[in-house]
Amino acid sequence: MRFVVTAGPTREPLDPVRYLSNASSGRMGFALAEAAARRGHEVVLVAGPVALETPSGVARRLDVVTARDLQGVLAEEVPSCDVLLMCAAVCDYRPVEVVEHKIKREPGVWQLTLEPNPDLLAELAPRKGDRIFIGFALESENGEVNARAKLERKGLDAIALNAPANIGRSTGRLTVIRRDGETLEQGPASKAVLAEGLVRLAEELASPG
Ligand code: CTP
Repeated sequence: MRFVVTAGPTREPLDPVRYLSNASSGRMGFALAEAAARRGHEVVLVAGPVALETPSGVARRLDVVTARDLQGVLAEEVPSCDVLLMCAAVCDYRPVEVVEHKIKREPGVWQLTLEPNPDLLAELAPRKGDRIFIGFALESENGEVNARAKLERKGLDAIALNAPANIGRSTGRLTVIRRDGETLEQGPASKAVLAEGLVRLAEELASPG
């Protein structure tokens, strides 16, 4: 099957040398790309700015910076995929204005105005068809309730609930919630093992029975 795997943070520029971003390392997404390639799938890895080497077997890597870059790549790549594993930690907001020259230090309080980025998964949902979409939910409280709500809102087949403690580590635990309500606890295990479990789930959901 053809897998599109997104990984890492997005970065939203403020001026030529500053940006808003988050602590995603990209490791989980890269582990997913590697696991899918190892299981014989054609993998397109769409990576935010991360310092990770392309895993062996990945057919194509496309690097993006902003949420809107990622939106453009998904619009191109998702129509021809069978499975989307959406592991990117997309910035929900971006600065309204990107200043051309480095912002200078001034006395007093400075207010930054942000505008929302699109919800990329929610936007893709209406044209999902019979593709399998698996998302991630990063929650610091009410994890399962919030993750289930995201699964519904974003029209996903399954969602992997991730705890902030997993960020940047090579191991972790996930609660995987399927659309049919089944919930699986995975880990603690290496991200490679967790990734293999999610790729197998995508295979099962794509061809039930
Ligand atoms: N996601 C997305 N577009 C966004 C934000 C997130 O497609 N603008 C995707 C992520 O890749 C992930 C899922 O949606 O697969 C959930 O991301 P998360 O950051 O947990 O949730 P948000 O939708 O950002 O909601 P909130 O910030 O309210 O928790």
